[in-house]
Amino acid sequence: MHSHVYQPEPAPATHGRLIRWAWLYDRVVNWLMLGRARELRATTVDLARIQPGETILDVGCGTGDLTLAAKTRAGQAGKVSGIDAAPEMIAVARRKAAHAQSEVDFRVSAVEALPFPDATFDVVLSSLMMHHLPLAVKQQGLGEIHRVLKPGGRLVIIDMQRPTTLVGRAIIVLSGHAVLREGVQDLPPLMSEAGFARVQASDTAWRMLGLVVGWVDG
Ligand SMILES: C[S@@+](CC[C@H](N)C(=O)[O-])C[C@H]1O[C@@H](n2cnc3c(N)ncnc32)[C@H](O)[C@@H]1O
Repeated sequence: MHSHVYQPEPAPATHGRLIRWAWLYDRVVNWLMLGRARELRATTVDLARIQPGETILDVGCGTGDLTLAAKTRAGQAGKVSGIDAAPEMIAVARRKAAHAQSEVDFRVSAVEALPFPDATFDVVLSSLMMHHLPLAVKQQGLGEIHRVLKPGGRLVIIDMQRPTTLVGRAIIVLSGHAVLREGVQDLPPLMSEAGFARVQASDTAWRMLGLVVGWVDG
């Protein structure tokens, strides 16, 4: 007799910090964003300048809110994938996609070993995930992202700033994050090392979050 008990996929081996409490994740993000999580997703899609028909990958996609917002913007002709190394996150993201009748390909995978051929995507999104990776994994992950981007493609990262004041450090620690030794402002040199031809960093409307965009030569 076959058993139909749900067996989650195993998590890939990674030194990234996974979030296994997917059921609570959206509420925690909304709390940290002071009720503005939906606005954060809309703003990120705007900042990424997603165009209809683009092919997009969201790395460390978590429960998929940004991925689904990107699919809405990319439209019927756009192909959108999301990967996360935590199977629990991907299970929630798949449920959301089914509920919204949105065709997004969500997969359990680590950013440092992406299951896609070279030059597949126009855009890679990375939202609030880089600070979950130790330096060596960040370097591997950026190399993989560069590999799967098409010539002329872009990587759009929104992530935590390394706090530079005592108050900033206190907020980070109180929000459940250990002291951040590396922040979004430390990514541009790593992106250049990974092969990005041009890298541009800017602030966002959220003081704790910064934006970095890197372009592949093309
Ligand atoms: C703070 S969450 C961000 C989720 C989502 N991008 C968002 O904006 O809400 C960081 C995510 O990175 C995932 N993660 C950590 N290490 C990873 C790795 N090596 N590869 C892929 N995902 C990873 C975690 O499981 C978690 O879902």
